[in-house]
Amino acid sequence: MFGKRNTPIGTTSDKQSPVPDVPGGSSAALPVATATAAASSGTVSMAPNTRSADMDSRLSEVKVSVFNDLMATVDLGEFAKLDHKSVREAIGEIVGEIINMRNLMLSAIEQQQLITDICNDILGLGPLEPLLARDDIADIMVNGYDKVYIETDGLIQLTDIKFRDNQQLMNICQRIVQAVGRRVDESSPICDARLQDGSRVNVIAPPLAIDGPALTIRKFKRDRLTLDKLVKFGTISNAGGRLLEIIGHCRLNVIISGGTGSGKTTLLNCLTNYIDRNERIITCEDAAELQLQQPHVVRLETRPPNLEGVGQVTMRDLVRNCLRMRPERIIVGEVRGPEAFDLLQAMNTGHDGSMGTIHANNPRECISRIENMIAMGGYTLPAKTVREQIAGAVNVIVQASRLRDGSRKITHVSEVVGMEGDVVTLQDLFIYEIQGEDAQGRIVGRHRSTGLRPAFYERVRYFGKERDLADVMEESSV
Ligand SMILES: Nc1ncnc2c1ncn2[C@@H]1O[C@H](COP(=O)(O)OP(=O)(O)OP(=O)(O)O)[C@@H](O)[C@H]1O
Ligand SMILES: [Mg+2]
Repeated sequence: MFGKRNTPIGTTSDKQSPVPDVPGGSSAALPVATATAAASSGTVSMAPNTRSADMDSRLSEVKVSVFNDLMATVDLGEFAKLDHKSVREAIGEIVGEIINMRNLMLSAIEQQQLITDICNDILGLGPLEPLLARDDIADIMVNGYDKVYIETDGLIQLTDIKFRDNQQLMNICQRIVQAVGRRVDESSPICDARLQDGSRVNVIAPPLAIDGPALTIRKFKRDRLTLDKLVKFGTISNAGGRLLEIIGHCRLNVIISGGTGSGKTTLLNCLTNYIDRNERIITCEDAAELQLQQPHVVRLETRPPNLEGVGQVTMRDLVRNCLRMRPERIIVGEVRGPEAFDLLQAMNTGHDGSMGTIHANNPRECISRIENMIAMGGYTLPAKTVREQIAGAVNVIVQASRLRDGSRKITHVSEVVGMEGDVVTLQDLFIYEIQGEDAQGRIVGRHRSTGLRPAFYERVRYFGKERDLADVMEESSV
């Protein structure tokens, strides 16, 4: 019904007809490449996946020949008009016919596997599909066609998944970025994008990536992490979690500091849970990752320059514009440059409860990173003035870390108390102490409160949470 059927099923055509666009509006890159390779070599190997590694070679050969028959039979242009579900059904039907015509001996499971693999290659992200379907994976890292790494439980491991070649990988990268109106090729080899499910994607292509396209996907978690879950995972103690809840609720200005992949965005998301539902929140991000549950939210996203090198909208532009949008809270996904200054200004001028994340390894380093970012913006303010700005603006620094055993911990909840001479003074309220290692090499430690009374106590009292705060600080102090 969907096929052009200009070639009888069962005969592998030696002439591939031009393949029009595939669903999703991309340029049919993947099927064309696959079909062309099939025509030229006759030995095309379909993209393997986890299961394919275990497939015997007979099944792989069957897969190739069925795929070639399918390519010769269907008009992908017709598929482009249909939704994915209908296309999968149609492909299943035609593949079934091909198998019957060719008298191929396949079990029901093998046949289903074959259909799934073919659909993944035509419609989806080919060999990556099985990984994308798993919710236990945090990151997928593709370093050229034959090395696909994943991160699960905080640990990075190599998978047996391979693309056919770098061209197939590049085609998939192009398909991803085209879906969000961007492009990636030799002349514009760096690109950020997002998958339909919200996963964050970065592509860097040759010649910048020397060994083939490098694709990095931060998988979107369907099962959103909440503070309760972080407590369950041991990322923070129960008392520490309650302290964060108070911090989020009492409109304190918070910076979440941490290394790459340490859980900063996740924590920011968790903290935003405690923002009142009637507050007007504006978020600024490079790639929208935050999932705020409140109704009154304006989400803004930066934009890279277009092909002519114009039209860029930076984080700084967004943060500045925010100030004219009557925000009650400003949330910056990642503070990376001179927008640090604008965020501090906002924090200092009545937008209490603003938040952002910063790449730094400890709270003290976080302060110097902010100073450096302000200097990068070309401000020639004396160091002391900048530090005063920081001390006046930021109330709390929450430090996230990924430890060497892969576990993620909140290692500090520190308060910015003020200035002593030229130095910003910090006071730890909560810390994680490493005590050793267990037999499996997992780090053993504990979270504890320092028992110090926070300088933001008055603010907490104003919000009527002083009793909770006292409980929390006493509960786990030594
Ligand atoms: N406490 C945690 N326990 C287990 N997994 C976590 C925890 N925090 C975050 N993760 C997972 O780790 C991955 C990285 O988290 P997240 O995106 O928050 O890190 P990040 O510090 O913002 O990274 P980046 O520096 O790349 O922006 C995500 O898949 C997330 O679901
Ligand atoms: Mg992040």
